[in-house]
Amino acid sequence: PRARIEFDPRFTVAEVPERLFGSFVEHLGRCVYTGIYEPEHPTANEDGLRQDVLDLIRELGPTMVRYPGGNFVSGYRWEDGVGPKADRPRRLDLAWGVTETNQFGLGEFMKFCRTVGVEPNMAVNLGTRGLQEALDVLEYANHPGGTYWSDLRRSHGDEEPYGIKLWCLGNEMDGPWQIGQKTAHEYGRTADQVARSMRYIDPELDLVACGSSSRAMPEFGAWEAEVLAQSYESVDYISAHAYYHPREGDFVSFMASAQDMELFIDGVIATADAVGAKLKSDKKINISFDEWNVWYQTAPTGERPEPWAVAPRQLEDVYSAMDAVVFGSLLITLLRRCDRVTAACLAQLVNVIAPIMTEPGGAAWRQTTFFPFAEASKFGRGTVLNVNASAPGIDTAKFGEVSALHSVAVANEDGSTTVFAVNRDLESPLTLEIDASSLPGVGEVTCSTLTDADPHAKNTFEDQTRVAPVANGSVAVKDGTITVELPAMSWNTIRIA
Ligand code: AHR
Repeated sequence: PRARIEFDPRFTVAEVPERLFGSFVEHLGRCVYTGIYEPEHPTANEDGLRQDVLDLIRELGPTMVRYPGGNFVSGYRWEDGVGPKADRPRRLDLAWGVTETNQFGLGEFMKFCRTVGVEPNMAVNLGTRGLQEALDVLEYANHPGGTYWSDLRRSHGDEEPYGIKLWCLGNEMDGPWQIGQKTAHEYGRTADQVARSMRYIDPELDLVACGSSSRAMPEFGAWEAEVLAQSYESVDYISAHAYYHPREGDFVSFMASAQDMELFIDGVIATADAVGAKLKSDKKINISFDEWNVWYQTAPTGERPEPWAVAPRQLEDVYSAMDAVVFGSLLITLLRRCDRVTAACLAQLVNVIAPIMTEPGGAAWRQTTFFPFAEASKFGRGTVLNVNASAPGIDTAKFGEVSALHSVAVANEDGSTTVFAVNRDLESPLTLEIDASSLPGVGEVTCSTLTDADPHAKNTFEDQTRVAPVANGSVAVKDGTITVELPAMSWNTIRIA
C-alpha cells in the first residue's frame, strides 16, 4: 500500500509551544525516591540527584516538569517538605497507601529543575486544603522577601524567589478516587477564588483549572462547561488527562488510540469556546494536556506494595515496541493540535509509567517510549504545517475506519523540515511519498525508524537496549518527491535538510 502527504511552509497550524514537551514527577512509587533522588547512589551529586538519571533526562529533552502530583497533591502539606531534613515529618500518603518521608520537597524540586534546565509546573492541594495554603506556598515560592513565608524560604537557603509561573489548581477534582473530590460547581467556584487571589500575589501567573480525568468520565463536557462558567476570566488553561492500553486484546484499536485523544481535544475546545461565546469574551482558554501516556491500569500480581511502605514499586509498566508506536502517535496528535494544546506533560518521568527506569543503587535505562519523545522534543521544534494526506484505511472495532498513516510536518527553526509518521497497520508496510516540491530545495534526507518483528519486545533490566530506533535505508529522493518504506507498526522521524 502507498500513502502520500503534501504540505507548504506558507500554510501553518501554529508555532510549537515550549511547554508541549513537559513531563511529570509525582511523589508516587519510585519516581522521586530511587528515581531522580537517591543520595546513596554512586552517581548522586551533592543534592542527592542521580546524575545517571539526569543525563538520560537531558537526552529525553523535557522542557517542563509538573510536581508534586497527581493524586498525591490532594493530601499534601507542602510545608512538610521544606526546611532541615531531619525535622521533616513522615506522613501517611492516602492517595497511594504508602508512607511519605518528605526528604524531597519544593526546594529540592527547584534544584532539580535548575540542574536539568526545565520549567517548574507546580500543583496546589485543593483536596484536603484550599485558598490559604495555595497563597502560602505561592508566597514562599515567588515573593522576594520581607514576609513570613518568603523569609522562611530565604532561611532555608534560597535567597532568590523561585519565580514559578505555571500552577495547577488541584488535580483531577472530578474523580471519585480523589481525596476531597468536588462537584463541578464547588470546584469551579474554588478554582476561580484561588486563581483570583493568587494573582494578587503574582499577576504574571499562568493557571490551570482541572478538566475531566478522562474523556470517559460520566460528566465529561458538563464538567468543563460548569468549571469554566465559574472561572473563565481567571484561569488560562483547562487540563486534560488520557491514558491508553489495549483492551481485550484489541491491538488494532489500540494502534488508533490517538483518535480518542483528538476527540477529547475537540470536545474540550468546543466546550471552552462555547462558554467564552456565552460570556462574550474575546479570551481563549487553551488545553494543558498535563497527563498523557500508555498505562496498563492493572497492577500485575505480586506487585501490590506492603501497606504504608516507603517508595515501593508502583505502576512500573514495562513498555513494548507497540506501546512506543502508539505513544509516538499521541505525540503526533499533540503537535497537530498545538494551536490549542499549548502545554502537555508526559506522565511520568522516571520508574512510574515512565520512559526512564532505574534500579536502586544500580543502572538507569531507556524504555521503548523514550525514543519517540526524545526525537519529537529534539526535532519537533519550530512551526507545525498543515498536512494533506491520502492513505489506506484500517477498520477498527473502536473508532471505525482510521487512516493507516498518522503524520505531522514541522518546519524547524534551522530551515530543515521534519515529518513524524506512524504506520498504524500491524501487518502491512506502507510506502510513503512526501511531496517536497513546496520546499526551496531538498538536501540530505534521513529516516530513523522504531519497530520490531516482535510487537511485544521490551527493554528490561536484563536487556536494556533490545528496542531502539535504527536508520531506515529505504529513503529515495526523485524530482522533489521523497519515498520511504514505513514498516508495519512503526514510528518514523524523517529529516529533510
Ligand atoms: O499519573 C498517575 C495518576 O494518574 C495521577 O496521580 C493521577 O492524576 C492520574 O489519575
